[in-house]
Amino acid sequence: MVSIDSIRKPILADLEAFDAFVGENFSAEGEMLQEMLTYALSSRGKGVRPMLTLLSASLHSPNAEAADDSCGSVRHCSKRTYLAAMLVEMIHTASLIHDDVLDSADERRGKPSVNAKWQSDTAIILGDYILARTMSIGMSSAQYDLVSYVGSAMSTLCEGEVLQSQHAQKFDTTREDYLRIIYQKTASLLGVSAATGALSVGASREDVERLCKFGEALGMAFQIQDDILDYNRQNNTGKPANNDLREHKITLPLIEVMERASDEERAHILELLRRCHEDEAAVDELHAIVVKGDGAALAAQTMQAYLSRAMHLVSKYPDSPYRRALIDLCAFIAERDR
Ligand code: FPP
Ligand code: MG
Repeated sequence: MVSIDSIRKPILADLEAFDAFVGENFSAEGEMLQEMLTYALSSRGKGVRPMLTLLSASLHSPNAEAADDSCGSVRHCSKRTYLAAMLVEMIHTASLIHDDVLDSADERRGKPSVNAKWQSDTAIILGDYILARTMSIGMSSAQYDLVSYVGSAMSTLCEGEVLQSQHAQKFDTTREDYLRIIYQKTASLLGVSAATGALSVGASREDVERLCKFGEALGMAFQIQDDILDYNRQNNTGKPANNDLREHKITLPLIEVMERASDEERAHILELLRRCHEDEAAVDELHAIVVKGDGAALAAQTMQAYLSRAMHLVSKYPDSPYRRALIDLCAFIAERDR
C-alpha cells in the first residue's frame, strides 16, 4: 500500500515552501472574507494538484537524474513553480466551494461545507473572490504562459459542470458522455497541474505535452475512483455515500451495470434513479443493484487502463525519486479510500 507521505518525500522541503508561499500571497481584505478564506484553505485535502506540479517541475530539472533519496530535505523549485502550483490549487479550491453550493452539500472533507457554515450566497462570493485573486496574482506576476493555461482550465471546468447537470436532468448519461464530463471537470485541471510544473522550469514543448497527458490520464482515474468510492459506504472521504444517486448522477459503476441490463431492468433502474432525490429506499435498492452487478469492479478496470497509460507516459524518463513518486501517485489513486 503506497502512502501519500512516501509520494511527498522527494519534494517535502518544496511543499513546505509552497505552503509558506500560499500564506504570504493569498490573504483577503476584510475580517469575514479572511475568516472564510482561512476556513477554506485550512482543509485543502491531499494536495494532489500542487504535488503533481512540484513533481513534474522536479522531473524536468537539470539535476533530476543525480537526485537521491535525501533530495526532499532541500528545496529545488523556484517561485515560478510555486506560483503554478498555487494557481491550480486555488482554482480547485474555488471550484469545490461552488460545487458544494450546486450540490447543496453540507459536508466537505468531514467538515461543514462553506455553504453550510455561511449560506450559499456568501459561499459563491468566496469562490468568486478566490478566482479573482488567483487571476490577479497571476497577471501581476506577468507569468502569462502559466496564467493562460490556468484560464483555459477554468472554462473547461465550467463546461464539464454544465454538461453534467444537463445529463443529470435528462437521466441520459452514456459512457461517452461520462468520460467527456470527467475529462472536463477533473482530468483537464490535473493535466494543467502537471503541464505547468514542466513549463515552469522551461521543459520542451514535447515534455510539457507529455506531462499534460500524464496528468489527464491520472485525473480520469482519480475521478473514476471518486465515483467508485461514492458507492462504498465504508469510505473515508468525509462525504455521505451514494450522494451521486441522490443528485441523479449516472457515473461509471452504474453505467457498467446499465450496459449489461435488459431493457426492462434498465427501465427499472431509471425509475429508481428518478426517485433517489427524496426516497432513501430507492437509493438503497439502486445501491444493491450496482453491488450485485459488480459495477465498482468493472469501473475499476477502466480506471486501471488510464493508470497504465499514465505510467507508460513517464516510463521514458530515467529513474529518479521524482519519477518513482509519480508512479507511486498512480498506485495511490487506485488504492485510496478517501
Ligand atoms: C467535484 O466533483 C467538482 C469538480 C471537480 C468541478 C466543479 C466545477 C464547478 C462547480 C464549475 C466552477 C468552476 C470554477 C473554476 C469555479 P464531484 O461533485 O463529482 O465530487 P465531490 O463528490 O467531491 O463533490
Ligand atoms: Mg460534488
